[in-house]
Amino acid sequence: MFPAQTYQDRRQNLANHLDSGLILIPGNNEAPMNYTDNVYPFRQDSSFRYFAGVNKPGFVLTIDASSGESTLYGNDVSLDHIVWMGEQPSVRELAAQAGIDKTGNLADLTGGLTATKQRVHYLPPYREERFRQLQIWLGKSRANIELGISENLVRAVIALRSIKSAEEVAQMEIAVNTTRRMHHAAMDHAAPGMLEAEVAGLIEGIAIQGDGRLAYPAIVTRNGHILHNHYHGNELKEGDLLLIDAGAETPTGYAGDITRTFCVGREMDNRQKAVYDIVKKAEEEVIADLQPGVAYRDCHAQAGRIIVSGLKNLGLMQGDPAQAVAEGAHALFMPHGLGHHIGMDVHDMEDLGEDLVGYDEEIKRSKQFGTNALRLGKKLEVGNVITVEPGIYFIPALIDRWEAEGKFTSFINYNKLQDFRDFGGIRIEDNVLITETGSRVLGEAILK
Ligand code: GLY
Ligand code: MN
Ligand code: MN
Repeated sequence: MFPAQTYQDRRQNLANHLDSGLILIPGNNEAPMNYTDNVYPFRQDSSFRYFAGVNKPGFVLTIDASSGESTLYGNDVSLDHIVWMGEQPSVRELAAQAGIDKTGNLADLTGGLTATKQRVHYLPPYREERFRQLQIWLGKSRANIELGISENLVRAVIALRSIKSAEEVAQMEIAVNTTRRMHHAAMDHAAPGMLEAEVAGLIEGIAIQGDGRLAYPAIVTRNGHILHNHYHGNELKEGDLLLIDAGAETPTGYAGDITRTFCVGREMDNRQKAVYDIVKKAEEEVIADLQPGVAYRDCHAQAGRIIVSGLKNLGLMQGDPAQAVAEGAHALFMPHGLGHHIGMDVHDMEDLGEDLVGYDEEIKRSKQFGTNALRLGKKLEVGNVITVEPGIYFIPALIDRWEAEGKFTSFINYNKLQDFRDFGGIRIEDNVLITETGSRVLGEAILK
């Protein structure tokens, strides 16, 4: 974890964003998998860890917005627990590590919250258990818990977590460097005759060897056109394009999110290389133009124009690239967004609301197919860390639907597309820090 001062500063900044009330940030509890004691790997709530530093289940943080006074609530473990789990730091010791002066046990919290006359600010729950806890603590119905989510608190947390400090960026470099080892191992070992699962296991092992874990379920697939494909049961064949979207989470809780696509067992053939080069050009030209003040919505469109121009050279598209992108024709080939914030969550702060994180009064989410999946549209700021992840995919079901509907026939050459039905998909993704002068790709270079 970071020094206590880091957490003290974060809590004070948060309190400064809100005039009054009690800020309530619960940590996560263990989540049983098939019976109470057999649990999913514990994952702390990111905002709780950001402000309280504690990476253990069963704790709650409160911050008095007027005074800035913070309290860590939790129960010291019993001798019974110590027999099974070893000595554990006390609530007081955990609090001290994060510069929190006051502690209490969970029963104090429950009584205090039920009785308080202060406005209680809390974030949107994403686990059912959290709804139930809030209902008990605040004596409200589920519907009223939803209505009572504090938008002021959400906005304040987003404002703080969107700007990464130097010590956070250092952690994110570690995440990317571990992720780099995962991808390079996959490139070294993937071979015809292996199952995708063997590659998936190899890379997950490297994330665990880094004393962390995967930041999200890995995509390791010869069917890269299926965007969130978590099936790993296919056998790899020579000449397959293997798309791997996988990232490590550091022990401190920061994510990497990297995609590479390579050819199994041989070099790419000319057609694969031609499509690959378009994606690479889109990624690199967007990154070269990143700087504070640039709207990421415009970067998404820039990537789209490069993709259309490239596909024109292959005879798959025609017409004016800018017009094709403005009308949404490129989305046949890239039906997802160019990228998103990344930090403690791979889609950073998505639990707080995608539109509040990625959009604002000035830049609203598009309703157009494809661009409506863009998670981040607003202007970039120094200290943002984002992903840049263009791709080109040949999705037979989508091609057939659009062709049947006669969509964008002035931009799309459906006849020529028939040859690409079994192509799969290519994506390249890197993690990029926005700096005063432009941007910096995090981590050591990963082969592409
Ligand atoms: N790994 C999920 C994504 O790239 O957004
Ligand atoms: Mn990814
Ligand atoms: Mn991503």
